[in-house]
Amino acid sequence: MENPVIVGVTGASGSILASKTVDALLELNIPTILVASNPARMVWQIEMSESFGESLERWRENSGFSHYAIGDLQAPIASGTFPGRGMVIVPGSMATVSAIVNGISDNLIRRSADVCLKERRPLVIVPRESPLNGIHLSNLAALDSFGTSIVTADPPYYLPIKTLEDSASFTAQRVLLALNVIEELPEQFRYGDNESQQDRIK
Ligand SMILES: Cc1cc2nc3c(=O)[nH]c(=O)nc-3n(C[C@H](O)[C@H](O)[C@H](O)COP(=O)(O)O)c2cc1C
Repeated sequence: MENPVIVGVTGASGSILASKTVDALLELNIPTILVASNPARMVWQIEMSESFGESLERWRENSGFSHYAIGDLQAPIASGTFPGRGMVIVPGSMATVSAIVNGISDNLIRRSADVCLKERRPLVIVPRESPLNGIHLSNLAALDSFGTSIVTADPPYYLPIKTLEDSASFTAQRVLLALNVIEELPEQFRYGDNESQQDRIK
């Protein structure tokens, strides 16, 4: 069994990005550990048609899936001795970005991210905020300097993608790439590989 990927969901807009990321990991049979903050659950309720509880139930059908409460600082992933493969925070709030930059490990997402950095394991963040102020930008730059991959959730305008769902699936695949879970994007998300895209460009 491969080491698990941790998915931290924070209270930024874009719950669908978290949902698609978990789906994509489980589709590849990658063991997946989910932690969601309380604001994340609040945003989920506003943005998603499937409730957070329903999503958990669906994912729990996969034996590789597990879930810890945000306050559970005794969870195995809070320790560097747990053999994690890496972590993504998706969507990533500016509050959590700031906490990680400042080493504030006061919940399980922040602590797990801190562990990834100290153990030199891949840490990926999908930040969500607009417009970005100077504090956000300098915190994101600091994270980059510590080796974190910053994957923005921009739609791939160069692909014939029509729905927010498809755009979120694309971002999820970019996350998997940044985590080294896949070596290249699936064909439908590669520039130039898509027939209808070729047609449109002609
Ligand atoms: C509907 C809604 C949308 C929000 N969207 C964002 C966002 O896109 N980016 C952000 O940084 N914070 C956003 N927030 C604010 C965060 O939820 C808030 O800062 C919270 O303290 C983050 O905590 P967490 O990082 O522990 O989840 C949003 C809040 C709500 C209620």
